[in-house]
Amino acid sequence: MKHMRIHPRLLGYLGRALSLELSAVQQYMTQAALAEAWGLPEAARRFREETVEEMRHAERIIQRMLTLGVAPNASQLRPAGVARNLADLLRQDAALEAEITALYQDAAIFCERIGDAGNGAFFEGLLREELEHAQQIDTWLASLTVPHQTDRAYF
Ligand SMILES: [Fe+2]
Ligand SMILES: [Fe+2]
Repeated sequence: MKHMRIHPRLLGYLGRALSLELSAVQQYMTQAALAEAWGLPEAARRFREETVEEMRHAERIIQRMLTLGVAPNASQLRPAGVARNLADLLRQDAALEAEITALYQDAAIFCERIGDAGNGAFFEGLLREELEHAQQIDTWLASLTVPHQTDRAYF
C-alpha cells in the first residue's frame, strides 16, 4: 500500500489540481472581502461558502496524495485577478472553474485509460462538484442586470 507505483502523470494531475484548488481558495476569499467592502453582504456570504468548498477540495487532494505516499506540492498559486464589479468577479470564477473542470476531465479519462478505477472515481467526484460550481456561477452571472452595473474602485 505504502509504496505502490504511481504513474508520474497521475502525480502531475494531483499537483496541478492542488495548485488550482488553492488558487480558488485565494480567489474566492479575495472576492468575499471585495464584496464586503463594496457593501454586498449576500455576495460576500456566497463567496465565503465557495472558499470553504474549495478548501475542502484542497484537503481531499492532500489526503489522497498522502495516501499515495507523496508530499503535497502545490507550486503555482496564481494571483486573484483585479475586477471592478460583481459581474467581472463572476467571469473570473467561470474561467477558473472551467479550467479546473477541464483538468479533472483529463485526469479521469487518463485514469480510465490506465485502468486506475480508484483514482478515476476520485477525480470524477471532484469533477461533478466543480461542474455544479460552474453552473451556479453561470446562473448567478445571468441573474445580474449587467448593463446597470457601475464600476467601483478596487477597494
Ligand atoms: Fe474545487
Ligand atoms: Fe469550484
